[in-house]
Amino acid sequence: MTLPVHVAIIMDGNGRWAKKRSLPRTFGHKKGVKTIKKIVKAASSLGIKVLTLYAFSTENWRRPKSEIKALMVLLKYFLSKEIGELNKEGVKLRLLGDLSRFSEDIKIEIKKACDLTCNNTGLNLNIALNYGARQEILQAFEKMLKQGIKKPTESILSSFLYTEGQPDPDLLIRTSGEFRISNFLLWQIAYSEIYIVDKLWPDFSKKDLESAIINFQSRQRRFGGVVLEKQ
Ligand code: FPP
Repeated sequence: MTLPVHVAIIMDGNGRWAKKRSLPRTFGHKKGVKTIKKIVKAASSLGIKVLTLYAFSTENWRRPKSEIKALMVLLKYFLSKEIGELNKEGVKLRLLGDLSRFSEDIKIEIKKACDLTCNNTGLNLNIALNYGARQEILQAFEKMLKQGIKKPTESILSSFLYTEGQPDPDLLIRTSGEFRISNFLLWQIAYSEIYIVDKLWPDFSKKDLESAIINFQSRQRRFGGVVLEKQ
């Protein structure tokens, strides 16, 4: 059975998870970080090579200031504290997005975490931060224009995306039952299999990841072609 090489996840439902328990939304994000840790370990033990998690979109800055502040505190905590354990497991961290908008202290933690894990050969963990696929494609065109590339090919464009050098996602999972892409990896998911699960992100487990993979394995991927019947 083929294992997806690259799994991408839209982690959704932290707010609803907290609301169901009459807790502030930030409690959902806190639990969401615990789920990140669990799922990174699970993906790594299952043999997945690339895991991309959508943590903060270019649109998320529109949230209340207090929620953004709490997300930044969690991000800093994740980058400074949790990364040590993931480093021991061989995880290599890459951040996808326009990182210039983050505060200096977060930029420092981002650099430290990436430097710490850059020589690791285990799971490639991409965390999308201040990420928007349209912004990603636009910045790729800006860079290509600067370099005088007037006729880009698909592979040239791919090489200017944040996921440069990595295979496109085979499987895209979205939690919390919403059927939306939300400006995530628009170029890279052209042929990804999409799996929507009702579970809210804080409740998503290794078993749920395995179910998504089993479902993926039952799909017939044709990449726009046809599957020829045996004569
Ligand atoms: C969606 O829940 C969740 C996010 C905003 C992204 C995921 C963020 C985390 C798991 C925590 C922070 C991440 C890091 C790397 C420190 P929502 O708030 O949109 O939920 P709702 O749709 O139920 O309101």
